[in-house]
Amino acid sequence: MTLLKGKNIVLGITGCIAAYKTAELIRLLVKSGANVEVIMTESATRFITPLTLSTLSQNKVYIDMFEEPENYSIDHISLADKADIIIVVPATANIIGKVANGIADDLLSSTIMAARSPVFIAPAMNTNMWNNSIVQENINKLRVKGYYFINPESGDLACGYKGDGRLRNINDIFAEVSDYFNIETPLKSKKILITIGPTREYIDPVRFITNKSSGKMGVAIAEEANRLGADVTVITSVPVSLEGIRIEMVETTSQMQEALKKHFCSADILIMAAAVADYTVKNYSDSKIKKSSSQSELTLNLAKTPDLLEQIAGIKTGNQIVIGFAAETNDLIANAKHKLESKKLDMIVANDVSRNDIGMNSDYNEVSFIYPDSKIEQLSKTTKQKVAVELMKRAIELVNKT
Ligand code: CTP
Repeated sequence: MTLLKGKNIVLGITGCIAAYKTAELIRLLVKSGANVEVIMTESATRFITPLTLSTLSQNKVYIDMFEEPENYSIDHISLADKADIIIVVPATANIIGKVANGIADDLLSSTIMAARSPVFIAPAMNTNMWNNSIVQENINKLRVKGYYFINPESGDLACGYKGDGRLRNINDIFAEVSDYFNIETPLKSKKILITIGPTREYIDPVRFITNKSSGKMGVAIAEEANRLGADVTVITSVPVSLEGIRIEMVETTSQMQEALKKHFCSADILIMAAAVADYTVKNYSDSKIKKSSSQSELTLNLAKTPDLLEQIAGIKTGNQIVIGFAAETNDLIANAKHKLESKKLDMIVANDVSRNDIGMNSDYNEVSFIYPDSKIEQLSKTTKQKVAVELMKRAIELVNKT
């Protein structure tokens, strides 16, 4: 098998009982033709010996950076530069916290910090640690920045607990890594424009109205489009760092409108994942509004914003595909269908934003893809990454038909 021939994979191993499972992962990667460079944290070496891993990888195993101070500055940069992909298996709450917060105090965290390649993280930890909101916030922060997570499974844990936190099956991790390298690039010659995040409408220089969109769905779509070989531009209100993707930062609806005007004419597909404000503040104050001792109420006058999607769909050529989202709290399908028709879209992705477990600000979504001929395809609750994969499959079909 030479599925991964010529690929340089940096495998970071952190201190967790599941570290012993990486021996099998290295065996599978090497058997598939990959060159595997292992970095172990000091505590990982307590769970599995470097000798086992260097024997399996047929390479030197790098341990804590202070072991060989003369090489440190070379190692973390050269490993980061060489890597086609970095995978951290198993990843403790500690390494996730360090990466999420910009801490680079050992060889592994420094290598990740210097990396320009994609980083896949397979966490493993006690259920209560996994469910800790600090850990989840760190994960969300990294996801938005384009790190890939191979989520743990539920089951018996070494600590005696039962629940989420067990390292994903090694075969699944291997499959995710090989899928990453072996996808086709059906969008190679295509330009894709994606809008991401909530727009802000300013009340005064320091206050604004916005909504709870996190931008995660749009980021997942941009990553998937990029993986499929497209030339991707994102117009985003949330900071994202996506390797190989053109990024245009905007804040307000009118800035998003300008950016769309600039980029849409050359795009083959527009995916409007942004949660655009429907109203802007009419009586914007140039100076910070002071609270008045005599007034107990303040009235804001709002004016409707233009519907950007409708405007764009109105000028699109026959070769361009325009896909929108419908955020609904009730009558999901009927409302989404109405938007699809009134905005003259090629497809709409309907999602229920009344639930906390999916949709806005969640890592998960449950969507229906609706077409102008009334065809509806439902996707049950899954990660936003998987929704992005399904959405892009359909976008490819649509653009291939033009
Ligand atoms: N949209 C847009 N410009 C706006 C409002 C929405 O381009 N001013 C786009 C969104 O990016 C999304 C689609 O239109 O792709 C539907 O947005 P949604 O918020 O679901 O619906 P609205 O059209 O705003 O209608 P309503 O808020 O009444 O449900």
